Amino acid sequence: MKLEGKTTFVTGGRGGIGRAIVARFLNEGATVYSADLSAGGSLDRNDEDGSHFVRLDVTIEDECIAAMNRVQNEVGRLDVLVNAAGIEIEKTIEETTLDEWNRSFAVNVTGTFLTSTKIADSETLPYSPR
Ligand SMILES: NC(=O)c1ccc[n+]([C@@H]2O[C@H](COP(=O)([O-])OP(=O)(O)OC[C@H]3O[C@@H](n4cnc5c(N)ncnc54)[C@H](O)[C@@H]3O)[C@@H](O)[C@H]2O)c1
Repeated sequence: MKLEGKTTFVTGGRGGIGRAIVARFLNEGATVYSADLSAGGSLDRNDEDGSHFVRLDVTIEDECIAAMNRVQNEVGRLDVLVNAAGIEIEKTIEETTLDEWNRSFAVNVTGTFLTSTKIADSETLPYSPR
C-alpha cells in the first residue's frame, strides 16, 4: 500500500488511461478524486470504483477552483495530480477545423495549465509543481 494516507486527483478519471490510474491508486490505498466531464466519461458507464467523482471541465477556471476548494474542505491536502484528461483529433491536418484545433489546445494544453495551477497550487497543499 504505497499510497496509504495520500490524496490523489486524476483528471480524465473516467476515461481509459485515467480509470486505470484511479484503480491502481485505490489498490495502493490512496484517497482518489476522479474528475471528468461526466461520471461515465469516455467509457459511457459509471463504475462504482471507490473514488470520489468530481464533475469537472478542465478548460473552465472556475470549475478548477471549485474542485480545489472541495479537496481542501474535505481532505485539506493534495499529494498527487494526474492530468489524464485529453482529446484526440482523429483527422488529418487538412480535415481539421479551427474550432477542433482550438478545442484540442484548450483541453490538452490550457486544461493542464489550469489544473496544475488552480488545483495543485495552493499554500495549504503540500505539493506544488512550481
Ligand atoms: N490511449 C492511448 O494509447 C494514448 C496514447 C497517447 C496519447 N493518448 C492521449 O492521452 C489522453 C487520454 O487517453 P485515453 O485513452 O484515456 O482517452 P479517453 O478518451 O479514454 O479518456 C479521456 C477522458 O478525458 C475526459 N475529458 C475530455 N475532455 C475533458 C475536459 N475538458 N475536462 C475533463 N475531462 C475531459 C473524457 O471525458 C475522457 O473520459 C488523450 O488525450 C489521448 O489522446 C492516449
